[in-house]
Amino acid sequence: MKNYEYPRPPIFKARTRERILREVRRRKCKVGVEIGVHRGEFSKKILERTDIETLYLIDPWVVGGIDYPKNDRDEDMRMALEAVEPHKDRVVIVRGFSMEVADQLPNLDFIYIDGDHRYEGVKGDMETYWPKCNDGGIFAGHDFYLRHKCGVPRACYEFFDSIGHEFYVTRCGYWPSWWTIK
Ligand SMILES: C[S@@+](CC[C@H](N)C(=O)[O-])C[C@H]1O[C@@H](n2cnc3c(N)ncnc32)[C@H](O)[C@@H]1O
Repeated sequence: MKNYEYPRPPIFKARTRERILREVRRRKCKVGVEIGVHRGEFSKKILERTDIETLYLIDPWVVGGIDYPKNDRDEDMRMALEAVEPHKDRVVIVRGFSMEVADQLPNLDFIYIDGDHRYEGVKGDMETYWPKCNDGGIFAGHDFYLRHKCGVPRACYEFFDSIGHEFYVTRCGYWPSWWTIK
């Protein structure tokens, strides 16, 4: 299959995803979700660097996905819990698939999509969670690149073009994030 080609160059804004967290703080986002947690590395940063009062952390932690065929996922989840332990009063763990558990979540001020990186997975998450994002909230996700058959760029261009909304990409070299303000 031919590689996806960007219909136009991305608009680069902000250097890293940590810079997006500064915006989360500046906008006083209070309720957030991270879709795809793994060992809680970014969850911890979200909790440390923002004033989010309730952070939903969604991950099925299942073995056999395309990304983690061999990991002990219970151990990954345990490490995630350990990472967020100092902030546990602000955390709600949801062990499940993002699209299946969406109804359990309230509307959100910050949404970070980093779960199923296949085109259908990312597009599905965008379509499911965009309506749950409050106006003025931050809608974002990880891995805007074409390596490893990653479906993120195609999902971004198609989704944002379909709703006529601009999105940005962080400048950092290897693992850029995409983001926008709703
Ligand atoms: C790249 S890791 C997340 C890394 C984490 N966001 C960070 O930056 O530290 C991707 C995670 O997404 C999870 N995942 C895969 N499909 C998912 C889905 N449909 N819903 C939620 N999480 C999913 C995987 O189990 C894996 O732990």
